[in-house]
Amino acid sequence: MYETIVKGATVVTAADTFQADIGIAQGRIAALGRDLRDAAEVIEADGLLALPGGIDSHVHIAQPSGDGVVMADDFASGTRSAACGGNTTILPFCLQQRGQRLREALDDYHALAAGQCHVDVGFHLILADPTPHVLGQELPALVAEGYTSLKLFMTYEGLALSDRQILDTMDVARETGALVMVHAENEDAIRFLWDKAERHGETAPKYHAATRPVPVEREATHRAISLAEIAGVPLMVVHVSNREAMEEIDRARRRGLKVFGETCPQYLMLTAEDLDLEGMEGARFVCSPPPRDRASQAACWEGLETGIFDVFSSDHCPFRWEDTAGKQHPKGRQSFRWIPNGIPGVETRLPILFSEGVRKGRISVNRFVALTATNHARLYGLYPRKGTLAVGSDADITLWDPERRCRISQSRLHHGADYTPYEGLEVEGWPVRTMVRGVTVALEGEIVGPSGHGRYLRRHPGRLGG
Ligand code: URP
Ligand code: ZN
Ligand code: ZN
Ligand code: ZN
Repeated sequence: MYETIVKGATVVTAADTFQADIGIAQGRIAALGRDLRDAAEVIEADGLLALPGGIDSHVHIAQPSGDGVVMADDFASGTRSAACGGNTTILPFCLQQRGQRLREALDDYHALAAGQCHVDVGFHLILADPTPHVLGQELPALVAEGYTSLKLFMTYEGLALSDRQILDTMDVARETGALVMVHAENEDAIRFLWDKAERHGETAPKYHAATRPVPVEREATHRAISLAEIAGVPLMVVHVSNREAMEEIDRARRRGLKVFGETCPQYLMLTAEDLDLEGMEGARFVCSPPPRDRASQAACWEGLETGIFDVFSSDHCPFRWEDTAGKQHPKGRQSFRWIPNGIPGVETRLPILFSEGVRKGRISVNRFVALTATNHARLYGLYPRKGTLAVGSDADITLWDPERRCRISQSRLHHGADYTPYEGLEVEGWPVRTMVRGVTVALEGEIVGPSGHGRYLRRHPGRLGG
C-alpha cells in the first residue's frame, strides 16, 4: 500500500512535535499515524527526528562574478552539498546581466540545472536591468509562470539600482504579487570608504569589513523599507547582520508594514576579526554585509528568537579561495575590493542552527523548523506542498540525529569551495538521511544515486500574511 514507511521517528513541524510513522505513496505523505504497515521499504528511525526537509531560499549557484572568477558550485555540486546538509529544496538566483532579457537569463540557468540536481530547485530573479520592456512585458509574464520573487541590489557595480528603478520594479511586484527581496547597502558610501582606505594603503581583506560598516546597511535598510512603503509592497530584507538594521524592520512593522527579515549563519558565528588574519587568509570570510562583532551576533540570535527574522538562510555563495585570493587572483591580492563577495554554507546551515540554537536552548525545535523550512515555503509560494510534514505534502523528509556530534571540516563537506569558514566547529545534531519526494538522496553524509532526481519548482505568490 505504501512505497515507504518511516517508522518510529519523532515528527517535528513548525507547530507540533509527536510520535508517528510516516507512510509515503507516489512521492507524497499518504499517512501519519501509529503502527503503519504494508510497505515495500521500511526505514527504522527510532531516536531520530523527522523534520520537513530544509528549504534554503538564499543560495547562489553558477552565477558569474565580475572579473571572470567562476563560482565554485554548479548545480550538481551545489545540490549535492545541499542534500548532504539535510536540504530538500533550494532557491538559487537567476541573474540578469545588464542588456540581457530575463527569459534569456532563465534559459541559461535552466540549461545548467537540467538533469543535474539532487534536490528540488526554484529560481528567484535578480533584476539588474529593469528596462520598460523587462518591467512591462517580461516580468509580469514570468511571475505568472511561477518566478514569484525577485532580488534587487542597492550595491555592487553592474547590479545596484537607483531608487527610481527600485520603485518602478516594486510597482510591478505590487501588480503581480511577486515578493521583492533587497540587498541593502549604500553603494556610494562604500565607494567613498573604499577610496579613502586605498589612499591610506589599507588593502588587506579586513578592510572589506571596515568599509561596509553598520550605517551603510542601516541607511539602505531604512531607504529600502521607505521605498516599499511608497510603492505599497511587502519587502524581504535579506542577510541582515546587526541590531540597527533589525530595528528598522521592527519599526516598520510597528507602522503596520509587511516587512520580512532574513539572517544567516555567518552573522551568528563569525565576526570582522575573522577577516583580520595573516596575508590573504581573511579572504575566506569576505561576504556582504560583513560579519560584525559579538554584540551583533547576540542581536541576531535575539531576532531569531523573537521573530524579527522569519527565515534563516545560508546565502551560500561559494568561491575557491585559491581563485579569489590565492595565487590565481593577483587583483584580489592587490585590494580587498577585488575579492569576490560570498562564502559557502548550504551544507552547514542546519547543523549550526540546530547545535547553537536548539541544543543550547535558544530556540525550540519547532522554531528551528519554521526558520529553516516552513517560513521559506510560505513566503516563497511553496506551501503546503513543501515546508511541512502533513498528509498530501511532498515526502521531503530529513531524518535528523539530535545527539550526533560532528566536527565541521572541509574534508566532510561536498561543496565546490576549497574551504569552510566553520572549520573545526563542533556541532551536536546532524542529518542522517535526506528524502526528496520519498526518495533517499543522501544517506550518512553521502549522496545516494545519480543526480537528476531534483525537479524545477514552479511557485505561487507567497503567503504574506494579513
Ligand atoms: O557576499 C555575499 N553575500 N555574496 C552573495 C551575493 C549577495 O549579495 O547575496
Ligand atoms: Zn545580497
Ligand atoms: Zn546572497
Ligand atoms: Zn563525501
